Amino acid sequence: MGIVKCVGILTSGGDAPGMNAAIRAVTRAAIYNGLQVKGIYRGYKGLITDEIVEFKSQNVSNIIQLGGTILKTARCKEFTTPEGRKVAYEAMQRHGIDALVVIGGDGSLTGARIFAQEHNVPCIGLPGTIDNDLYGTDTTIGYDTALNTILDAVDKIRDTATSHDRLFFVEVMGRDAGFLALNGAIASGAEAAIIPEFNTEVDQLEELIKSGFRKSKNSSIVLVAESELTGGAMHYAERVKNEHPQYDVRVTILGHVQRGGSPTAHDRILASRLGAAAIDAIMEDQRNVMIGIENDEIVYVPFSKAIKNDKPIKRELVNVLRTLSI
Ligand code: F6P
Repeated sequence: MGIVKCVGILTSGGDAPGMNAAIRAVTRAAIYNGLQVKGIYRGYKGLITDEIVEFKSQNVSNIIQLGGTILKTARCKEFTTPEGRKVAYEAMQRHGIDALVVIGGDGSLTGARIFAQEHNVPCIGLPGTIDNDLYGTDTTIGYDTALNTILDAVDKIRDTATSHDRLFFVEVMGRDAGFLALNGAIASGAEAAIIPEFNTEVDQLEELIKSGFRKSKNSSIVLVAESELTGGAMHYAERVKNEHPQYDVRVTILGHVQRGGSPTAHDRILASRLGAAAIDAIMEDQRNVMIGIENDEIVYVPFSKAIKNDKPIKRELVNVLRTLSI
């Protein structure tokens, strides 16, 4: 394998707060180690449409505090085809890019894995998604900020819910993963969370109603993870309206507000550490791994493991929520 002299960096899939901190860290760590850096705009799309510019240290000044991604992002259909990936590879060659750092979620790292195999390109992945659904890292870049955005919203919803004695279903993001809903519920003191991971085992709503979750309260808030498996907040609200008309039910769908905002200290530090570690990995001739942090240690996780999509949710968290919401 040749020595890496130039690193390309891109953000892909849904943006996540802290992606800019990661771009800054990768860029600065690469330059510190004598590598050239090329910023690729709009994710894999920018490789195909040749939106690639050299990044110097100044390109990443004053961005650590910004939400979104200065490199922009996209979900790129062309890159899912061998023809599209060939065009992307040719652009890399033209620009002298000999290793790629991809910041994104499940789909983005799946793309990196296929690309790396097909064209023998060293790819390093950084877990960037609010969903926290990548295996091999305790948290992903953006998750903590999104969780805090959810808390801010639910605290406000609690004011009006209490004033009206209402039952609120609040839908949060997560794309088939319940981390935001479950931990958001614990941290906001919500009465319950409905998440896809446990959806097949029991009818969670029936369980909640049967356990009389409103008996000692004048308001109730249930966080629902968006997912085809849960059916979303509207689905549960309709059911309660039909089956338990005594409840005054309202729905709030938090939506993309969860993806924005200035990253928390946790996400900035996480992104900075992961970004610097990505360049360490490249210098050590690592390839085709995601960088994670587990138990406060940097770990290299093969793509195949990281994207298997089976990051477990601890049942203990479900029990904590249940115990504390009586
Ligand atoms: O993966 C991040 C995420 O925000 C998911 O939680 C959500 O399901 C999805 O992206 C929304 O995607 P889009 O912005 O393309 O609507």
